[in-house]
Amino acid sequence: MHILITGGAGFIGSHTADALIEKGHTVRILDNLQKTIHPEGRPEHLHPKAEFIFGDVRVKDQLYRALQGIDAVFHFAAYQDYLPDFSTFFHVNTVSTALLYEILVETSLHRGIQRVVVASSQAVMGEGKYTCPACDGLPNHYIYPEIRLEEQLSRGRWEHRCPVCRSILKWLPSDESVIHPCNQYAISKYSQEQIAMQLGKRYRIPTAVLRYSIVQGPRQSFHNAYSGAMRIFALSLLMNRPPIIFEDGRQVRDFVNIRDVVRANLMALEQDRAAYQVFNVGGGVAWSVLDFFHTMQQVVGRDIDPILSGYYRYGDTRHIFSDTGKIQGLGWKATHDVRTSIQDYWEYIRARPGGKDVLERTEAQMKKLEVIRRVKDPR
Ligand SMILES: NC(=O)c1ccc[n+]([C@@H]2O[C@H](COP(=O)([O-])OP(=O)(O)OC[C@H]3O[C@@H](n4cnc5c(N)ncnc54)[C@H](O)[C@@H]3O)[C@@H](O)[C@H]2O)c1
Repeated sequence: MHILITGGAGFIGSHTADALIEKGHTVRILDNLQKTIHPEGRPEHLHPKAEFIFGDVRVKDQLYRALQGIDAVFHFAAYQDYLPDFSTFFHVNTVSTALLYEILVETSLHRGIQRVVVASSQAVMGEGKYTCPACDGLPNHYIYPEIRLEEQLSRGRWEHRCPVCRSILKWLPSDESVIHPCNQYAISKYSQEQIAMQLGKRYRIPTAVLRYSIVQGPRQSFHNAYSGAMRIFALSLLMNRPPIIFEDGRQVRDFVNIRDVVRANLMALEQDRAAYQVFNVGGGVAWSVLDFFHTMQQVVGRDIDPILSGYYRYGDTRHIFSDTGKIQGLGWKATHDVRTSIQDYWEYIRARPGGKDVLERTEAQMKKLEVIRRVKDPR
């Protein structure tokens, strides 16, 4: 097949390109080498057999040209950040998806398209699904909490509480039916999902949406502040500096290895049963951020205590964990553990000393924009 990967110079796109080329497909990449991801320009990891087009998914004629002769599309180009330039999220993530379907339908290219795979995110599920273990006023009743606001977080009250009895809620795995996007990125990703699924069905463009949890592995840009715990901890340990752990470190996260994600991407392309479906792609093991840090210390052999001093990132989810039962029904299962992801990423960043000053720069910027805040009134 001739396959277009938008955002194919990035982390997930480039690994997917390698796997597709390995399987004998022809790959074309459309990427505008976003400065925050690729400050040094075209990355060395681009496969030499991939055709590279420098271009922007927001520009109709550039996307149109990239779609010529294509049988399948992976739409991965995205704006992911914590910054408050809200409109950029929608221009890049949402409008580009509408533009993709617009071009396919207007030019009748859609008749030849065998699959569109859209990268969505666990963020769409917002704070996820909870139950109250103490409250018998709510039998079998699930709670989908709202995002935590400044009044709560500035007092260091991290957990979600039952709206009836005020007990601390218990998190549950969230399946694909959980939809509660709470920040600009999540809202842009959910609208992207909706455009893809609804227009895909209406115009018979077989479309699959994959909602990744936190993907880990080499080539994940250490310049992008959005690429969370792995990046912050690895860069700090590399510099022999104690990393800041936000909140109390007990927040639950769901990490999935890039190799497992690539397998899910190939399955979404190849299996007919994947068409017109949304799937969670997660690691299957719930990690606290603190446990993740301790595991990283062991794997990389650096014994530095973290700073747990009441910093938090405004807009972060407390606990989130994806139920992957649906994609397991297609035969997919996460098979690489977090230790492997850490080892691979550590080797990757150790070979790239340019990352060292990035941490302080992105941290300072996030503090200035009040994305990173500090507990003021612990009670
Ligand atoms: N990495 C994760 O943990 C994760 C988790 C959930 C969802 N996702 C989604 O997976 C997809 C790929 O993520 P990634 O981690 O590989 O990101 P990445 O930042 O490494 O790659 C994205 C690529 O898109 C390119 N790009 C950005 N804006 C563009 C534009 N306007 N036109 C053309 N290219 C543009 C960038 O230059 C970059 O090469 C994204 O849609 C993202 O939202 C990623």
